[in-house]
This record gives sequence, C-alpha cells and structure tokens, in this order.
Amino acid sequence: MSAVFVIFGTRPEAIKLAPVVWALKSTLGEDAVRVVSTAQHREMLDQVLDLFGIKPDYDLNLMKANQSLNGLCADLLKGLNDIFLKEWPARVVVQGDTTTCFAGALAAFHMGIPVDHVEAGLRTGDLLAPFPEEMNRRFCDLVSSECYAATEKAAAALRAENVDEQKIHVTGNTVIDALLQMRNNLRANTEVTKELDEKFSFLNQNKKLILVTGHRRESFGEGIRGICRALVEISEQRSDVEIFYPVHLNPNVRTAVEEVIGQHTDRIFLGEPLDYQSFVYLMDRSYLILSDSGGIQEEAPALDRPLLVLREKSERMEAMEAGVAKLVGTKTKTIVREVVTLLDDVCLYKEMAHAINPFGDGRAAQRIAAIIKSKL
Ligand code: UD1
Ligand code: UDP
Repeated sequence: MSAVFVIFGTRPEAIKLAPVVWALKSTLGEDAVRVVSTAQHREMLDQVLDLFGIKPDYDLNLMKANQSLNGLCADLLKGLNDIFLKEWPARVVVQGDTTTCFAGALAAFHMGIPVDHVEAGLRTGDLLAPFPEEMNRRFCDLVSSECYAATEKAAAALRAENVDEQKIHVTGNTVIDALLQMRNNLRANTEVTKELDEKFSFLNQNKKLILVTGHRRESFGEGIRGICRALVEISEQRSDVEIFYPVHLNPNVRTAVEEVIGQHTDRIFLGEPLDYQSFVYLMDRSYLILSDSGGIQEEAPALDRPLLVLREKSERMEAMEAGVAKLVGTKTKTIVREVVTLLDDVCLYKEMAHAINPFGDGRAAQRIAAIIKSKL
C-alpha cells in the first residue's frame, strides 16, 4: 500500500508538522509515512529538522536567493509531481499557507490524491493581507478532503464558505503540541537551561526583554522600516528595556532592518534566526513580544507573554479577543505608544499576561493522525 506523504518547506511548517510526523509514524508505522522537504527555506528549516531529529525521505533543495513566488511555485510543482508520480501517495498532508503548502495541495489535487490540510480555516477576508498566504489557505481548504481547523472560529469560517461539515475537524493547532513539549523539556532540563543562560548572557537580567520578529511580505519597505524606527525610539526613550531581534533571512527584511537599526545597537541586539529551543527559551524569558508572525500569535498566549501584533489584520483573532494580544500595525508612533503604555501601566500588563490556550491543548497531532488512519 502507498504511504501518507507529509510535505513542508519552511520553518513554521516544520515546527507545526513535526508532531504530526511523529504521531503518524506511531499510529501507522514508520514505513507508512514519507517526509518531503521542499527546502523552500534552507538554514531556517534545517535548524528545525536538526532539533526535532527529522530526516526527510526527499529533499528538493529548492531555495534560491531572493526567490520569486512564481519561480518557486513552478519548481515546487515540477519537483512534487516527479515524486508523486514515482510513489503515488495514499494521501498528502500540507500545513498552513505557504507556497509549499499551496503547491503541495495543487500537485496532489491534479493527480486525484486526497489532501489533508492542517491549520485550515484561517481568514482575514483580505486577499492582500497576509499576501499571498490568504489566497494559499483559501485554495488549500477548497481542494482538501479533510480540513483540520485549530479552533471553533476557524471551523466557522469554513462553514461560512459552505465547506462540507464532514470534512471539518476541530483539532487544536499542532504548534501548541511542539511548544509545550519544548517548554516542558526546557523546564525539566537544567543543563540545557544553563547553556542557554550562558548563550544569552549578553542580555541584562535586570532589564525588561522585548523580543521582536517581523517578516511579512505586505510590510516590505515602509512597514518594516516603521517597525524598526519604533524600536530605535523605544531604545532611546527607555533605559529599563533591552530589545532582541533575530532577523529573518529574507533579504527584503534584512536590508530594511540594517538600514534603520544598523547604528543603534546599544540596547537593540540584532541576531540571526534562532533555533526553536533558543527561541522558546527567549519567549519564556521576555517581558513583551512584538511580532507579525502567525505562529508567535499562537505561542505567546500559551506562555502568558503579552504580544503586540505588528500587522493591520490578523486571521488569529482569538488571542486579541482573549485580551492577551493587541493589533498595533506597523506605524512607528502607534507601536511606541503601545509599548510605553504596557511598560508603564502595571495593571494593564498583568491583565494581558495571563496564560490561555485558545489555539490548542497539545494533542492536536494525535487527533489528526487518528482521523487520517480512519480515512485509509
Ligand atoms: C515564507 C512564507 C511565509 C512564512 C515564512 C515563514 C510564502 C510565500 N511565504 O516567507 O508564509 O510566514 O516563510 O518564515 O510561502 N532565506 C534564506 N534562508 C532561509 C530562508 C529564507 O536565505 O532559510 C531567504 C532567501 O533569499 C529566500 C528568501 O529568504 O529566497 C525568501 O524566502 P521565502 O520562503 O520565499 O519567503 P519568506 O519571506 O521566508
Ligand atoms: N521562531 C524560531 N526562531 C526565530 C523566530 C521564530 O524558531 O528566530 C519560531 C516561532 O517560535 C514560531 C515560528 O518560528 O514557532 C514562526 O515562524 P515565522 O515567524 O517564520 O513564520 P509564520 O508563523 O509567520 O508563518
């Protein structure tokens, strides 16, 4: 019998599909699962695979410097088509909304292979924000045989688009599986924590740590520069904080960050993308997180860290509705104002810093694997 194929290419897909790969292997057996890395990302993906000990059966090695969406998409379709023709998967599992996810679903759909879409039903309602992810996720939900929604809200979005009720499964988000496992490992392993304390010993324990990430395509240019100008202003106004920003490897992000922050590095530490273990350690250690990341919007609430979302729109409004995160956009003035308010208003900070898990309970991958087994 042919195998279930799990396809990923970027850092967040690998983090969110690692628990699914493990659950599928333990439910179906090692030989019944094949892992395909498209390597849409390279270094940022390899960090995750090394940490989670996942060795892909296929690695398309597709990443090119400053790749275009169409060039990448064409390479993905060709590469995945060749693999699918050779092995004809029983099912194809894709995650989220990247170009790898889109091409994986399209290649399987063209060949009549059932698609399982993990993290279905996310919508902002605006095809241009996030771009191109909103289109990718709508397409994947349309062609998928099974849609795994993290929350009831995501399931409701699918129902509103007349997705067949039989296809909708509310499972929780698998990122919470990965996060809780990583955090529990860290808390249980004092040796690793000591190593991480040492690795980040340049950060002053007496200052409030603001952890920052930003990489959205719709923010390239003025959006990223607006965020960076805010970081500079905050670092100049506030001697009680330190800012740490591991900068995404996309050259469009790096150029803007270096242009604005380059000289202002006294209390702003710019770094390379961190491995997931280090990043979870720093999220846990931070006072406040500023990010436009999808995954971090799901993780910060679970770690009771207030999050200011550097976007105009979000498809993960559960965190905002629970009062643990706030949409602040990319305008310098607004970001500075919101950060300063949170630093000064202790009551507001405490209200935002309470742990909730609107996105899952840590058992999403097991639920997904059980459903996939029942469909074989
Ligand atoms: C991609 C996804 C986005 C996701 C993000 C997660 C699409 C269209 N975008 O955006 O949805 O939120 O990943 O981080 O699928 N690069 C490296 N090394 C790496 C990774 C990237 O050098 O390990 C550089 C390369 O020059 C590459 C560029 O970044 O061409 C862009 O990578 P790409 O995957 O196309 O877009 P991201 O902005 O990373
Ligand atoms: N992350 C990481 N190292 C970093 C920054 C982020 O491991 O330096 C993790 C983060 O905890 C989350 C995921 O990467 O699980 C989010 O990836 P990203 O922001 O690149 O993509 P998005 O979630 O926006 O698609």
